[in-house]
Amino acid sequence: MSKVLIPGSFDPLHNGHVDVVDQALDLFGEVVFGVLVNFAKPSGMFTPDERVALAVDTFADRPGVTVGVFDGLVVDVAATVGADFIVKGLRSAADFDIEQQMANMNRTASGIRTVFLPCNPEFSFVSSRFIREIASHGGDIARLVPAPVSAALTDRFASRGQ
Ligand code: PNS
Repeated sequence: MSKVLIPGSFDPLHNGHVDVVDQALDLFGEVVFGVLVNFAKPSGMFTPDERVALAVDTFADRPGVTVGVFDGLVVDVAATVGADFIVKGLRSAADFDIEQQMANMNRTASGIRTVFLPCNPEFSFVSSRFIREIASHGGDIARLVPAPVSAALTDRFASRGQ
């Protein structure tokens, strides 16, 4: 059994992320689901603490998953939580291009290796960005996100009067 860190901005968490967590649980046994700030996407729809709360609800029935919010470099987070590997899900060749670069940067920085898991094709088109966009216009995203996220998006846009 190994412990892996799955880092991301998760704004919001969607079913593609859940699939990667489930694959990692099967393969490694222990998953730290780490909400980190992506400096390329500084402001989000949900605060980091809200993203953590949604992940805690979503993974409540999976004892192998712990959820946390972290600052700083992913390699430092991996060391802090004692992760053996970083795990990333890949949807496409475009994901691979950027993820391979990050994996090599991180391996050079600290020696930690990244394991890529191909996402379930059922979710290969799902992205947090499009979830936010569709939900903000009142579109139906319920089949693409876990129930707590769907409820939070509905609340968020209802409270903005949209
Ligand atoms: O879900 P995202 O937005 O693709 O996640 C990207 C994330 C947060 C994993 C990435 O931006 C990251 O690792 N940020 C932490 C800062 C860091 O370590 N940067 C160097 C990466 S080589």
